[in-house]
Parts: sequence; C-alpha cells; structure tokens
Amino acid sequence: MQTHRWLRTPEGAAPRISYGADYNPDQWSREVWDDDVRLMKKAGVDVVSVAIFSWAKLQPAPGVWDFAWLDEVIDLMHANGIGVDLATATASPPPWLTMAHPEVLPVTAEGHVLSQGARQHWRPTSPVFREYALTVVEKLAERYGSHPGVVAWHVNNELGCHNAYDYSDDAAAAFRAWLADRYGDIAGLNHAWGTAFWSQAYGSFDEVLPPRLAASFPNPTQQLDFARFSSDALIDYLVAEREVLNRITPDVPVTTNFMITGGTRHADYAAMAKEIDFVSNDHYVTADRDELAFSAAITSGVAGHRPWFLMEHSTSAVNWQPVNRPKRAGELIRDSLTHVAHGADAVCFFQWRQSSAGAEKYHSAMVPHAGEDTRVYRDVVELGRILQGLGDVVGSDRDPAQVAILFDWQSWWGSELDSHPTELLEYRREALEWWTALANLGIRADVVPTDADLAGYRMVVAPVLYSVPEALADTLRAYATAGGHLVTTYFSGAVNEHDHAYLGGYPGAFRDLLGIRVEEFRPLFAGETVPLSIGTNGSLWSEPIDVVAGDVEVLATYEHEELGAAVTRRPAGTGSAAYVSTRLGLDGLAAILPELLSGAGVTSELPEALRSSVELVVRAGANGRVRFFINRTDDAVDLGGVATDFLYGSATLPPRGVAIARG
Ligand code: GAL
Repeated sequence: MQTHRWLRTPEGAAPRISYGADYNPDQWSREVWDDDVRLMKKAGVDVVSVAIFSWAKLQPAPGVWDFAWLDEVIDLMHANGIGVDLATATASPPPWLTMAHPEVLPVTAEGHVLSQGARQHWRPTSPVFREYALTVVEKLAERYGSHPGVVAWHVNNELGCHNAYDYSDDAAAAFRAWLADRYGDIAGLNHAWGTAFWSQAYGSFDEVLPPRLAASFPNPTQQLDFARFSSDALIDYLVAEREVLNRITPDVPVTTNFMITGGTRHADYAAMAKEIDFVSNDHYVTADRDELAFSAAITSGVAGHRPWFLMEHSTSAVNWQPVNRPKRAGELIRDSLTHVAHGADAVCFFQWRQSSAGAEKYHSAMVPHAGEDTRVYRDVVELGRILQGLGDVVGSDRDPAQVAILFDWQSWWGSELDSHPTELLEYRREALEWWTALANLGIRADVVPTDADLAGYRMVVAPVLYSVPEALADTLRAYATAGGHLVTTYFSGAVNEHDHAYLGGYPGAFRDLLGIRVEEFRPLFAGETVPLSIGTNGSLWSEPIDVVAGDVEVLATYEHEELGAAVTRRPAGTGSAAYVSTRLGLDGLAAILPELLSGAGVTSELPEALRSSVELVVRAGANGRVRFFINRTDDAVDLGGVATDFLYGSATLPPRGVAIARG
C-alpha cells in the first residue's frame, strides 16, 4: 500500500464497520432480489461484492455485452444505501473464450492441461487472456466508475487460488524474462542456481524451463525462483487490471482479496499489499481458533497495521474440507469480532444467499437454504447490530505490541523445499506455535514482514528464518545490538537469497551474533522426541551445538549423550540474541518463554488468571484505545475488574464470547 485509501463513502456518513457479503444475484430470479434487499436491511448490510464470477453473463459471446442486469443490481443496492464493491469479473473465463483459445488454459508440472468447467482456468501470464480480461475491466470501469454506489474495485478473485503455478509455454517465456531481469546474464543465473551441480549449466535463457516434472529433485534455486516468479506474475496481473481502473476511475480505490489462511502460500502478500489501496483478506477456519487470530495478525502486518477489509469468511460450514461441520454457538460472532480486533473495518462473508445449485450449494451463507428463520440468520442480524455499535473503532490502527513475530514468504518457500534434512518441517506451524505460546502468557504479538520497522519491539521472534540475505542479517544484528532481543530457531540463517548455504557452520548468517556453531543438523523421526533440561521434550529437530563465545548463556540442554546446549542466549550490544535448536512445542515454549520475555522486559497485560483463556487485542486511534477480550475457551470467563467501559459485552465472557471496552 503506497497510501491507504478506504471505501468511498457518501459525504457526511457516520463512520461504521462495513458489513456484507459476496452477492451473486445473477444466480437468482428478479423477485429474489427484493427479498435480498429486505433481509440485507434487516441485518444492517451496507456493502456487497458483486459480479465476481459474472463474466459469462456480462459477455455471453465475443463482442456481445449485457450490462442491463448489473445496472439494475447496482441501482437497487444504491437506492437502499448498500455500497457495491464491484468485481472486475475476470476470475472465471467463459466457455466460449477457452474453446476459442485453449492456449489460455493452465498446464500442470506433469504437462496436463486444466480444463474449463470449474473456475480460474487461466494462465496468469497469457497475453491472450490478458487482452480479453482487460477489455472486460475497461468496459466495467467506463460504465460504472462514476456510479455513486460503487465504493471500491475488487480485482479478479483470490489471485492464484487455483492457477498460481502454471508450467505452460507462456509461463516459460515469462519466467525467462523474469530471470533475465533478475540476473542480467546467463552467467548470473548459472551462479545463483549452482548449475555446476548435475550438469545443469545453461548456455542461454532460451534453454531455461519452469521446474516441470523431472527425473529427480529439480534444482532448488530454480524451484524457489519459480515460486517467486509465480507470485510476481500474479502481482503483475493485478497491476495490469489496476492500471486500467486507475486510468479510467482514479477516485475509486482498488483492492483484491488475499488468502492469508491456513497453509495457502502461493503469493507473497507483503509484496502484493504494496500494489493496492487497502488490503482485503479471506479467511476460513480449519481446526484452530488461534490460527484465525494469527492469520488476522499477519493480515494486519502486511497492511502496515492500518484498517483492512475482511472480504470473505463463513457464517458456518464450508463445503471443501473432508468433513464440513457447522460453527458452534457463538463462533460466527466471535470469529468476526476477532478479525475486527486485528484491524478489520469491514466484515463480509462468502456469500449472501446460499446457492441452490452448483459446487458450493452446501457452503453456508448469511441466508441459508432454510431461510430467515434460522440460527445463522439470527446471528447475522445480531452481528450487524453489534458492528453498528463499533463506530469508535473505525479508522483506528492495531496498537503495536511489545513482541513481533517475523513472517517471511521467502523462508516459507525455501524451508519447505525437497531434498532437505527433513520433510516434516512446517514453517507456518512453528510460527503459529510461538503465537499461541505467547497468547497463553497473555502477551500480544504483531506478525510482521521482514522489511517492517523493528525498532519499537522489545523482542523479535524469527522462527525458521531460513533464507537470510546479508542485508537482513545486518538488520537483525543491528536490531539486537541497539537493545532489541532477537530469538531465532533451528533451520534459520542457513542460506542466502540464492539458496546457497553459508559456509563455516550453522546457523550461518547468525553464527557470530549467537556465538555458537553447529556442524550437523540432527532431525528427529516422526514421533521421536528428545528430553530437555526444562522438563519438556524437543521434537522434529535437534542440533549438537558448540558454544564458541565465552558470554553465551545456556538456557536449556538436551538430556542426550550426543547433544549439549539446546537453547542459548548471548548479549549483543545493549540487547541479546537467543537460539532455539529444536521444536519446543507449546509445553517447551511455556517453560522457556518466561525467561526470554523477562530478559527482554516484556510484561503481560492480562492478570494471571486470564492469561491462557483470553486473547487481548488492542486498537488505537482518534477515539482512544479500544481493547478486545476474546474468549479462547468453551467455558465462561470472568474478566474481573480489568475493564469497565464496555462498547460491547460485559465482564462475563460467555463460552467463545467477546467483550470490547474503551481504555
Ligand atoms: C473462496 C472463494 C469464494 C468461495 C469460497 C468458499 O476461496 O473466493 O468464491 O469459493 O472460497 O469457501
């Protein structure tokens, strides 16, 4: 985000958390639209995303356009005070296009061409697709850009959701151009990719391909560069649509919905966030409530802690997990308010009315199949009422925490490449465990990208920070020596940006700062653990650490004959640098974190009795501080006297409940 531009709102409108859904009136007959408006007004809906998958309806054949229905929908919404976040309709190309131009269809690493018949069957790098798609964008911008009911542009949908990795000839050509730009000449690429290994030296960029299915492990730097390229190709496509929109409708802000949720990792959202006016995210709950909060905190981090838009989540069950259970009582409201706590100034669902046909007919919505007289719709109305009472929060930032967790897509992609010491390592799980362990101690954490300003944080945790260019190593060293407290873990600082190992011992980039040296990694088998002196067990990974500097403090040791120090800390300038050489898990983190936190001067903002049961999140802005207390448990929790001036809820949190208080 260069500058933060929020939804266009009518002059003089009172600030409010916007509320709504993806709205697909084109799936329904005209009579239903009036009922939609009635139910939207009852629920306090003031924004809907329209036309996301409407290309075939808007352009039923080449050169044939039908905007009449969309004119009517936008007018209807506007007449009823409901803003339209208008999609550019390019997410799913119509059958006539893919039949005429099969060369827009993506190709898998195995060489299979993906067919039409689902959605998002297009190559991000296809010049043909781009030409057709940008024509649609242009038509929509020209027709609706000055409509007062259009509050924002919604570029495409979840860029790369099903088509991020395309191995087609178009992708190969674009990959070569991307590589030429990155490395300048083929010698640069040969060096970066280490092509002296396995006879891979290239004579020119024309010989280079995407990492298609090969006889063995494809070159790791080629894989990493392909991940970077694929993310950049999505960003490039986003910018192409945005440029059309900015040219024709410079006053309408542009967003696109990210997928910071679970293991979805195909786009570097810290980079993508720089290209839009405000960040939007889609989040779907899988197993774990803390994962929701962690995802929301990552979203806030890439949004620079400015307000962001929750574009999609579910009122209840989804349709794409192996078994799709409805949400339990309280979860619809708690999940939404957790996103608001972490900076969402708009709360939307997929979708408004549950489809009666198609692949998502068993996915929940704001108006379920069973209609208005349902628990879900009653909760939807209740949430609308709650959000209308939170005007004081609107426009405020997420208040900075004392601790930051670094979250880095480069290290995520790099650390999980194949032919590594273990295939069991999961980058995001380690980061999430630190988040949860901090939350269990009542410590708020920001989750920030590696280019964030770290100066204000007392402690920075860099879990599995695998890929560390020299400049990042310098930044973290400078952070620690200037009084910050850096904590990093196993498989950090192992390689530079080319995925070349730092020589001289692990953890290469941080070895001198930490005052330790490791000759060999010693990963653990699934289910294997190593006892630690702190009374818990390490899993996944271990390292025989040589302590090489006299001022290193050993905070925990392995109780194993081949291993010694497990957790170390060393003073650095006026700060410190600590190292955790195994997966501590929640028990181990609970045992070691108090020492790391007290060394860094980080204190809990919650009384002891509330620490593991309540998540505290704070927003702060022109109207002062607002604290969100979120019940992480299935039992009622009494907040005691920690808050009095409630905007919502009370000192007694129901199971899975939330209270929001000033001050
Ligand atoms: C999202 C998508 C929506 C809908 C939803 C279902 O990935 O943007 O269109 O498919 O998932 O959970």
